[in-house]
Amino acid sequence: MAPTTAAPESDTDSAAIWLPQDLQQPLETMTRGQRIGNWLINPYKNYLIPASWLKRLLQSSQSELLEETFRRPGGWRAMEILYRKDAPVDLLDRQAILDNPISRASRNRLQTVTQILIDLIQARQSDGPVVLMGVGAGPGRHVQTAISRLQLSADEVHAHLIDLDDDAFEYGQQLAEQLGISDCISFLQGDAREIQTVLPDVKPNIVKLIGLIEYLNDQQLHELLAALHTIMVRGGNLVTHGILDPWHGAPSLKRIFNLQHIRRSGDDVRRMLETVGFRVIDQVTEPMGIYPIVTAVKPMVE
Ligand SMILES: C[S@@+](CC[C@H](N)C(=O)[O-])C[C@H]1O[C@@H](n2cnc3c(N)ncnc32)[C@H](O)[C@@H]1O
Repeated sequence: MAPTTAAPESDTDSAAIWLPQDLQQPLETMTRGQRIGNWLINPYKNYLIPASWLKRLLQSSQSELLEETFRRPGGWRAMEILYRKDAPVDLLDRQAILDNPISRASRNRLQTVTQILIDLIQARQSDGPVVLMGVGAGPGRHVQTAISRLQLSADEVHAHLIDLDDDAFEYGQQLAEQLGISDCISFLQGDAREIQTVLPDVKPNIVKLIGLIEYLNDQQLHELLAALHTIMVRGGNLVTHGILDPWHGAPSLKRIFNLQHIRRSGDDVRRMLETVGFRVIDQVTEPMGIYPIVTAVKPMVE
């Protein structure tokens, strides 16, 4: 197992970006109180209280997460805020950061996927330089954390972080500098479905596709997976995930934030991956039951 303790964030550097201290933290579940609270509040959030009232209530909070979710639902900044898990500033912030099942599950997903990436990189290191690709990467937190924990040099690994939108790149670059891995990372703006045109000469052996496919319909996802399958080396791995709604939070996300996820079980994702030629080698669901995380391989032979 890889070393997983980061250099602690400097207390004196207020501009420093948050880093996890430890990748071996217990994954989050719901306490009994949170389960009961969720069960009691959900009908009101989902159906009974008018959406306009709920929006007004949530907008009265000082919560950075709520403000960002209204601004850009499900965007990379909101993800960064909920990963960071700062002490809540008020009750509504507490609900959003700590009690909300999807926030808890997203932190579980971050930790689990980062560890999977660490294991995949380590397994390939002896075969030569590892070429990683983060798709819909935002600032590339998963990939950057994995590389920095393994203390790899640019001769050993290079990560191409692709996003349709370049607004996370400055923050991502700052994160890379803070971690001392800038020369291992390139940012690229482009549509991953057109990856062959956007990045024609790169043949990744590990692809990370996290936080994106829940926004794509089946046709868009099929196009994306087919494009990634074409460029990857044989024997290369792809890590992605489905999304489920065991805590019945979807109606309120839709009516309050207009945030809609396309639900797919681990088996649904497996079927989509198999349609374009991948073979699933591992499937694990984080303990909140929201994200089935799926690892696939592009087989050595068709
Ligand atoms: C929710 S963020 C996820 C960020 C990060 N992967 C995480 O999980 O924390 C989704 C990102 O996917 C990007 N995106 C959406 N469609 C894309 C496409 N076709 N190609 C590349 N990036 C895309 C968005 O711009 C956004 O930054």
